[in-house]
Amino acid sequence: MESILNNRPALAAEVEKVAEVAGYLWQKGWAERNGGNITVNVTEYVDDAIKAMPAISEVKPIGAVLPHLKGCYFYCKGTQKRMRDLARRPMENGSIIRILDDCASYVIIADSPVMPTSELPSHLSVHNYLISKGLPYKASVHTHPIELVAMSHNKKFLEKDVASNLLWSMIPETKAFCPRGLGIIPYKLPSSVELAEATIRELDDYDVVMWEKHGVFAVDVDVMAAFDQIDVLNKSALIYIAAKNMGFEPDGMSQEQMKEMSVAFNLPK
Ligand code: 13P
Ligand code: ZN
Repeated sequence: MESILNNRPALAAEVEKVAEVAGYLWQKGWAERNGGNITVNVTEYVDDAIKAMPAISEVKPIGAVLPHLKGCYFYCKGTQKRMRDLARRPMENGSIIRILDDCASYVIIADSPVMPTSELPSHLSVHNYLISKGLPYKASVHTHPIELVAMSHNKKFLEKDVASNLLWSMIPETKAFCPRGLGIIPYKLPSSVELAEATIRELDDYDVVMWEKHGVFAVDVDVMAAFDQIDVLNKSALIYIAAKNMGFEPDGMSQEQMKEMSVAFNLPK
């Protein structure tokens, strides 16, 4: 089958990374049924032939006006599509969309008219925000990591930076590789514009945010790096739970040890 990825190795490599991460999300048990979604800004790989490609869908509203996305292109997981299927067939379980000049609507251009994720308002609002800030981040990942979601069912972990500090203190790598910590967003209806707006506000201070009793949303330079940030946080949650299951509250690294880490590795917090 003719694919937009044919003879475009750089674009194909980005989509292959999405497929690889989708497989990890399924293997970790974070992607039940159609759970989770991934979008990647692929505008830098778009050539004149892609720009000339006709739409293969009707014009669809985004639900928000996003001025920095004019003429941008995104790979998006399809709504109701499974990560475990996407891992093997990314272009049958996702599609590439073009944002139109009104910055408020999009069309699908390839490979087939798979409707993008229901969380598109959050994903695209976040990409708009990232561009407006001049950040090099190109990928956003939403997933349902079991232990982190479980923690969000306890009010004490929803207070600002309580979960971050606990998770950082479980193992030094978590602060090193998720240096801005875990932001918290109180429960909001999935796929709503309110959830999108709250997510952007929280990304001022964090690369990974918790959607209370739902999942996490992470941004980074590419999909692999966004996945890594979630993975280190959830690893810390697992260490915390393992200690609790052994019948004790883990001591955690001390504040001094964590400060020492921040200085030694030049971390932002
Ligand atoms: P989609 O199948 O529409 O991507 O939704 C999955 C999800 O996790 C919603 O929050
Ligand atoms: Zn979800």
